[in-house]
Amino acid sequence: MNKAQRPIGIFDSGIGGMTVARAIAQRLPHEQLIYFGDTAHLPYGDKSADAIRYYALKIVKYLLEQDCKMIVIACNSASTAAYGVLLEFFKEQALFVNVVDPLVEAAAAENFSKLGLIATKATVHTGVYERQMKRLRPELELVSLPTPLLAPMIEEGFIHGKISQTVLETYLSHPSLQDIDGLLLACTHYPLIRPQIENFYHGSVKILDSTDVVAQSVEKQLQAQGLLATGNEANHRFYVSDHTDSFEKTTKLFYGRDVHLEHLPIW
Ligand code: DGL
Repeated sequence: MNKAQRPIGIFDSGIGGMTVARAIAQRLPHEQLIYFGDTAHLPYGDKSADAIRYYALKIVKYLLEQDCKMIVIACNSASTAAYGVLLEFFKEQALFVNVVDPLVEAAAAENFSKLGLIATKATVHTGVYERQMKRLRPELELVSLPTPLLAPMIEEGFIHGKISQTVLETYLSHPSLQDIDGLLLACTHYPLIRPQIENFYHGSVKILDSTDVVAQSVEKQLQAQGLLATGNEANHRFYVSDHTDSFEKTTKLFYGRDVHLEHLPIW
């Protein structure tokens, strides 16, 4: 098959990467997407970097067997833990996009004085955001808060209502996040609760997430390599490593249409 017409592989621990997939599908309607949610190992945010690297290597191997021209690591925990090792093993076979670099670049271009970041424990512990941001904006204060309950809560469909509201308000009221003027949603699950986060701040804090900025980066890289697909009718494939009802329900709710989920037991 002509290389440009080959699919883009996207993966995350669960539904979070769908926020990125949707942004890519909207921006690039001729691209075919193969989505893999590693629901058997969700949440990634509580796993060690070694475990996340092991999962990522195996998933990417599968996606490359499907002839993907590009792999989007639509997960911050996997982007921070495994991007380097994935490049080391597979960079000759496909283009790789992580979700950290586009978000850091977008934040560095703003005029923030104190920037907050919420993410999984795995992402915060790697310190990757701090290091990347220091290179671009050494004077900018960046405070990171692990918010480990958010991804499993969203995955279970707790998005509207008292439980999610209480959890979210407790995290966002943390003393370290006081006086911020920008907040990075450094977990691909969090755009699903972005309206609730915006409500909390009433417009006083600018919120950035990794949906549109990653889709732009995907477009830019494909364009630079002459690999943008043309003329295809989108026919995306969605796989999960463990089929769960809550995943299916939340996916449909979020994606806004029927999504045929296939169980793919790669473990
Ligand atoms: N959506 C993922 C991230 O961006 C992982 C959430 C999780 O599985 O803990 O980090």
